[in-house]
Amino acid sequence: MPSGPSRAKPDFYTQKAKKEGYPARSVYKLEEIDSKFQLIKPGLRVLDVGASPGSWSLYVIRKLQGKGLLAGVDLKPLNLNKKYPNFAFFQGDIFSDEAGSFLRERGPYDLLLSDAAPNTSGNRLVDTRKSYDLVELVIGLAEDQLGLGGSMVVKVFQGGDEEELFEKMGTIFNRVKRFKPKAVRSESFEIYFVGLDRREGSR
Ligand SMILES: C[S@@+](CC[C@H](N)C(=O)[O-])C[C@H]1O[C@@H](n2cnc3c(N)ncnc32)[C@H](O)[C@@H]1O
Repeated sequence: MPSGPSRAKPDFYTQKAKKEGYPARSVYKLEEIDSKFQLIKPGLRVLDVGASPGSWSLYVIRKLQGKGLLAGVDLKPLNLNKKYPNFAFFQGDIFSDEAGSFLRERGPYDLLLSDAAPNTSGNRLVDTRKSYDLVELVIGLAEDQLGLGGSMVVKVFQGGDEEELFEKMGTIFNRVKRFKPKAVRSESFEIYFVGLDRREGSR
C-alpha cells in the first residue's frame, strides 16, 4: 500500500464507510459502478473475487435482500462481524483446485465482481504486469463461471497492455466499458473494465 499525505487522516469515504458499517472505503467504487450500470439485483448469483475485507460483499448482500446468493473468495479472511445465510466464503487462492470446486458447486453466476489486486511493489511497470496477469486469469474464470447474459467488473492497473484485456473482454461480452469511479484515490492508476451481457457462443 502506498503511503503519503492522502493516507495521513481518514478521508471522506473512509469516514462514510465506518458510519455505514463497511470495513473498507472501496465499497463506494462498487456503489458508483452499480449505479451507473445497474448490475446488482435481488435474486442474482454473484461471485466476488478478492473479497476481503468484505465491503463489496456486504454491499452485494444488502442489495440481494435475501434473494439469490453470493460466493466470495480471498487469500485473506473477511472482516465482517456476522454471517449471512446466502453468502459463502472460501479462503484461498481463487485459481486453486479447491476454490474451483467451491465455485462450481454454486455457479454458474450472473455477475462476477473482481476487485482483486496483486501485492504492489511500488514499481509501476512491475505492478501493472502483475495486474495484467491476474486480470487475464480472472477473464478466464468469467469464461468458465458466467452464464449467458452474465456480466463482470474487473479492476485493472493502467499503464501496460490493458487494452489487450479490454479487447479480449469484447469477444465475450456484447458491451465492454471503462469506468473510473470518483472514489478511486487521485494517485491511483486503477480503472474498472465492465463487461455486459455475455454473448452467445462465447463458451
Ligand atoms: C483491494 S482488496 C479487495 C477489497 C474488497 N473489494 C472490499 O471491498 O472489501 C484486493 C484483494 O484481492 C485479494 N487477492 C489477490 N489475489 C488473489 C488471489 N489469487 N486469490 C484470492 N484473492 C486474491 C487480496 O488478498 C486482497 O484482499
